[in-house]
Amino acid sequence: MDDSVLETIGSPLVRVSGPDGGTVAAKLESRNPGGSAKDRPASAMVAAAEDAGELEPGDELVEPSSGNTGVGIAVAAAAKGYDATIVMPASKSPERRRLLRAYGATVELVDGDITAARERADELVAQGMVQLSQFDNPANPGAHYETTGPEILDQLDGRTPDALVCGVGTGGTITGVGRRLRETFPDVDVVAVEPEANAVLSGDDPGEDAFQGMGPGFVSPNLDTDLLDGVLRVDLADAETECRRLAREEGILVGQSSGASNLAARRVARAFVDGEPPGYRPVAVDGWEPRPDAGTAGPDPLVLTVYWDSGERYMSTGLFDANDG
Ligand SMILES: Cc1ncc(COP(=O)(O)O)c(C=O)c1O
Repeated sequence: MDDSVLETIGSPLVRVSGPDGGTVAAKLESRNPGGSAKDRPASAMVAAAEDAGELEPGDELVEPSSGNTGVGIAVAAAAKGYDATIVMPASKSPERRRLLRAYGATVELVDGDITAARERADELVAQGMVQLSQFDNPANPGAHYETTGPEILDQLDGRTPDALVCGVGTGGTITGVGRRLRETFPDVDVVAVEPEANAVLSGDDPGEDAFQGMGPGFVSPNLDTDLLDGVLRVDLADAETECRRLAREEGILVGQSSGASNLAARRVARAFVDGEPPGYRPVAVDGWEPRPDAGTAGPDPLVLTVYWDSGERYMSTGLFDANDG
């Protein structure tokens, strides 16, 4: 018996469809208690703030978030007895507000985008609330280094992964998991996936896109760019088509960033099987150098990816309507 719902954090690694002669496997993060990978950093950031004496009984948490981080913090706050305020743009769907309120969080709506939400959260910090700051907080990648990474090592059944291919928001997932995998498998490629229309990591100016959770439009401080072997870009429409295919053909319901990551992971696996270069783009940050031998794999290549959340969180966007009938 677990003492808290937070102790149930963890997820399966599942083989999904890949090319003949290769394997693609995905971490199904919707199986976490709050329904996404963000339960891990939320819980770890709360614990780190407690350990540092920055968060005490009676304190109130605040976070600007329009998505899974807000839910993860609401879950951790409820489980640990803190109040939480999530500041979100008023344009986000009503079901998100309802979900946060269901966990007892206060939802404060702001006009404008996530930048406006960040400014309002900063005002609330000045009034005494505690902000966890997922883009800078080392406990975010730390959570994936301590939990997601070791879970994957246990779930590999003795196989050696050739690449981790996954989307980037704060960079917590790819940095934490990538660091842990590299320690055990020094040759594993770590490849970032970003939106085609907002491809800052591979050198474009920030753009507008409707991807939820990945492609923040800047290089997050929590993304360890030295760890990366390159970047792949995925178009939103292609990612959404992949979400519908995964649901229909594999019985796995996921959101846009997971669809994008899966598409990129399958492309890499296909290239490895065919002995072709996987087409990683260089990381457009000062001092980045490609690693020798990146983009190559042994026989029966294994490519890992992450599915952050469930497609149920995207129903009202119409993402799955084309599968209807
Ligand atoms: C749906 C979704 N996909 C991808 C990500 C990216 O994860 P990370 O912030 O660890 O880079 C997030 C993070 O919030 C997310 O909610």
